Amino acid sequence: MGEATDLQAAARDGVVVVGAGQAGAATILRLRANGFAGPITLIGAEAEPPYQRPPLSKKFLTGEYAKDRLYLRPLAAYAQLDVTLMLGREVCRIDRLNRRVELDDGSTLPFGRLVLATGARPRPLPETLRGTFENIYLFRTFADTQRLQAEMMPGRRILVVGGGYIGLETAAVARQLGLEVVLVEQADRILQRVASDETSSHFRNLHRSEGVRILEANRLLELDGTGGRATRATLSGEGEVLFDFAVVGIGVSVNGELADEAGLEVDGGIVVDSRCRTADPAIFAVGDCTSFPYQSGRTRLESVHNAIAQGELVADAIAGKQVGPYAPVPWFWSDQFSTKLQIAGLNAGYDRVVRRPGGREDSLSVWYFRAEALIAVDAINDARAYMTGKRWLEAGITPNAAAIADPAVDFKAAS
Ligand code: APR
Repeated sequence: MGEATDLQAAARDGVVVVGAGQAGAATILRLRANGFAGPITLIGAEAEPPYQRPPLSKKFLTGEYAKDRLYLRPLAAYAQLDVTLMLGREVCRIDRLNRRVELDDGSTLPFGRLVLATGARPRPLPETLRGTFENIYLFRTFADTQRLQAEMMPGRRILVVGGGYIGLETAAVARQLGLEVVLVEQADRILQRVASDETSSHFRNLHRSEGVRILEANRLLELDGTGGRATRATLSGEGEVLFDFAVVGIGVSVNGELADEAGLEVDGGIVVDSRCRTADPAIFAVGDCTSFPYQSGRTRLESVHNAIAQGELVADAIAGKQVGPYAPVPWFWSDQFSTKLQIAGLNAGYDRVVRRPGGREDSLSVWYFRAEALIAVDAINDARAYMTGKRWLEAGITPNAAAIADPAVDFKAAS
């Protein structure tokens, strides 16, 4: 007898999904939508059923969205789907040989197929800087957001460390709520990791015009304070900054320890093939935690779209459908003040950038090319540029760069 198929193994011993974020939720919802009738267990370290994270640093932090609005499904839906939801629980070890996971209370759970949807966690400041101060916050979860909200009083001073999307979105909300905001970025410019100079400049100008103090090329040298609260930062360039609390958004680390300790390859992410399979035929990985084949190399994406697409692909594979290979055109978005940024594609390795003014004074699109081929677009308050760019990327079309640069030339005439 040969090895059982995914479906046979999953139907007999169940599917265990580790991580109850967007990717884990997409996996289990799609499994049931596919008619999979075997046991499903979804295990999450947070006390919450799966919810959307992007609004946490946007409309949830401003108070505009209530908590209920973020849940992907009401709690009761999981019982209706006959999914065992284990919340506030962690998997400590994967026993590949016996195909079971060990939980934090010492119990074990068998699996026919295991899906790792463990995501990433925010990188903290080095211990030498953060000491034991209690008013320095990381930002990823509901619980983080609620702690932060308690500090976000009008007139208070917030220090934001890191000029990526987390830092910039937090700075924008804080300003809107009437706080004084200083943002410190150690690189030469905000958004350096993810965007061109043009896009960085647009957001620097936006934040400055809204009263955010942006300090680029500044390293945090020291934090001081009393009574468990830091109140003074010493910077490498701008001297001292006084503040009431700080938020740290300096990137994430993958939650890859479980996979690594089980002998699966982790290289900047849990290594999977173009169908989200690890080297163990019984174990898949999906979402932010994965490193997957992309174009001629590999990539890891921090994106809701990727989490859902990979989760659904794995659910389809387990249910016995033909899937993949996964070849996404990634997309992302960010809201800051009343500006909406939409990104299609990945700009890694770009060698040319073309700027196109939009129809309004505050709209703009930035087009990235590599070896003469379009690879990404940042659209700022310009939904049409985003839609057009995304469609071109999906179809593998490269527009004429000179036509793109000239706003008088319609998109229709540029491709
Ligand atoms: N001091 C100041 N800035 C720093 C420091 C430091 N010690 N270390 C890193 N930075 C800067 C980096 O140069 C970078 O500009 O912090 C920024 C972090 O940006 P990202 O790596 O993009 O990460 P972050 O903004 O934290 O977002 C993490 O959450 O919502 C998602 O889209 C977001 O997926 C991303 C993730």
